[in-house]
Formats: sequence, structure tokens, C-alpha cells
Amino acid sequence: MSNNLLKGKRGIISGALDQNSIAWKVAEKAHEQGATFTLTNAPIAMRMGEINKLGEQCNAEIIPADATSMEDLENLFTKSQETLGGKIDFVLHSIGMSPNVRKGKDYGDLNYDWFQKTLDVSALSFHKMMQTAEKLDAMNEWGSILGLSYIAAQRTFPDYSDMAQAKALLESIARSYGYRFGISKKVRVNTISQSPTMTTAGSGVPGFDVFFNYADKMSPLGNADAESCADYCISMFSDLTRMVTMQNLMHDGGFSTSGITDALVEELSK
Ligand code: NAI
Repeated sequence: MSNNLLKGKRGIISGALDQNSIAWKVAEKAHEQGATFTLTNAPIAMRMGEINKLGEQCNAEIIPADATSMEDLENLFTKSQETLGGKIDFVLHSIGMSPNVRKGKDYGDLNYDWFQKTLDVSALSFHKMMQTAEKLDAMNEWGSILGLSYIAAQRTFPDYSDMAQAKALLESIARSYGYRFGISKKVRVNTISQSPTMTTAGSGVPGFDVFFNYADKMSPLGNADAESCADYCISMFSDLTRMVTMQNLMHDGGFSTSGITDALVEELSK
């Protein structure tokens, strides 16, 4: 269903790896709502080829960029403005990766070079994107920039490892840059803290199935899926949320404010 919520808006969507990616659903819905945008991902992810299908489907140009490279990001924002014919109205940062999680490193035995990589890819890249956009004066007034976070920023989920620190940093960057961009360009910056979701990044966390089911039972509405997360992103890119900024917005079916639920009591009483 389209209400043309993003008609006339130009955007950049990162992180669509395959059909399960949250960014993939955001791209489909942004297209449905009348936006034009470019798609971007790390050059290595492009080689898997899936993103081309999405590009065709959404009539979107694909611009490879390693989100940790300032040079790639400059190219991304410059080319996106050229291709789309003007300044950018919305940006989705949907990027996360931890070499320590990927390689199964215990939290008491982390590799610190990898830890820095986790922070660079999953959090500093958000700052780098915004700094690039600001320096190039690439954002339109009343634009909207979003990152995707997880509640491990506030509460401990042991298997989430150094990604917990990355998410805490990501959310902090949203507040600091949100302040700056709000004053200079009326641009809002927020993070959406999403339920566990069956994607490549999500299911890479050890024991994911168990905490997916736990979160589902701990949430009165159940886990929010990728599609509903995309709906929320669209509303945050639309003019209906112009005064929301510097927030970490919970999109979790009620998980974060539930103490215990009947579903969990039932499960634990078995
Ligand atoms: P995904 O695996 O589909 O997306 C992660 C993306 O990050 C991939 O497209 C990958 O190519 C990209 N990426 C990795 N390194 C990069 C780099 N150096 N430069 C540019 N792109 C790079 O998984 P998903 O779940 O859609 O992840 C999107 C965001 O949502 C991430 O920030 C993730 O942490 C967050 N999130 C995911 C949850 C889940 O359970 N799946 C829960 C809460 C937040």
C-alpha cells in the first residue's frame, strides 16, 4: 500500500545484502512510497550479486562503498547527489560486523585489532557518513538519518560480545551528531533498536535461535520482524516525524519494558 510518504525524496540506503536484510525491505518500501535512492554496500558484499536484483527492482543505482573509508564515502555522497539530481533527504545506516563474533572469540579473549574493526565498521562508520555528508553539504534541510541498533547497548547479552560496545557507541554518535546537524541543517538523527531478526548479521551471533525465541516470548507483541522495522524506518524518513531527533527508538514489540510475561512463565514452568 502506498501513500507516497516519500514522494520527491532522495536517499541513500546501505546494508542490503540479501532478501532477509532489513535494508532490503527498507529499499522495497521506500520505492513503494515514491522515493528515489542509491544503494550501497561494501565492495566484497557486491560480489555476491544479490543487490543487483534489488537495484533493478527499485530502479536504483548501486554505488560500492566500504563504510570505513572516507574516500569511498565521499564518492558515495557525491555520486548519489549527481545520480539523484540534488541533495539527500534520508540516509539509512544498516551496517554491522564483528570479527570477534564471527570467529567465535570469547569475551575474555578478544583480539583488540578486531575489536577496533568492530567499532569502525559498526559505529564509527555512522559518524564518518555524517561527517562526509556535512562537509559536502549533501543533506537537505529537514532530512532524516537513521542507524539500526540493538538493546545489548543497554543490557548484557553475553554472546553479543563487542557488538554491545559498538551499539552503545552508535547510539551515542546519534545523539552527538543529532545535536550538531539539528542546529546546522534541521537534519534529525536517530537509531532504531530492533528485535532480534533472522538475517545474516543476526544469525551470526552464537545461540541466536534461543535468544530470538526468548525475546519473542518476552514481548507482548512478539518480535518485530524486518518488514515492520522497515515500516518504522519509512515513517522516520517521512515528514510525519520531523521533530524526532537524538533518540534511540525501541522497536521491539514491548521487550524492553517487560519484566516477565505469561508466555515465559509457562515455558519455564514446564
Ligand atoms: P545483514 O547481514 O543483512 O546486514 C549487515 C550489512 O552490513 C551487510 O549488508 C554487510 O555487507 C554490511 N557491511 C558489513 N561491513 C561493511 C562495510 N565495511 N562497509 C559497508 N557495509 C558493510 O543483517 P541485518 O540484520 O539486516 O543488519 C542491519 C543492521 O541491523 C545492523 O546494524 C545490525 O547490527 C542491526 N540489527 C540487527 C538485528 C538482528 O537481529 N538481525 C537486531 C538489531 C539490530
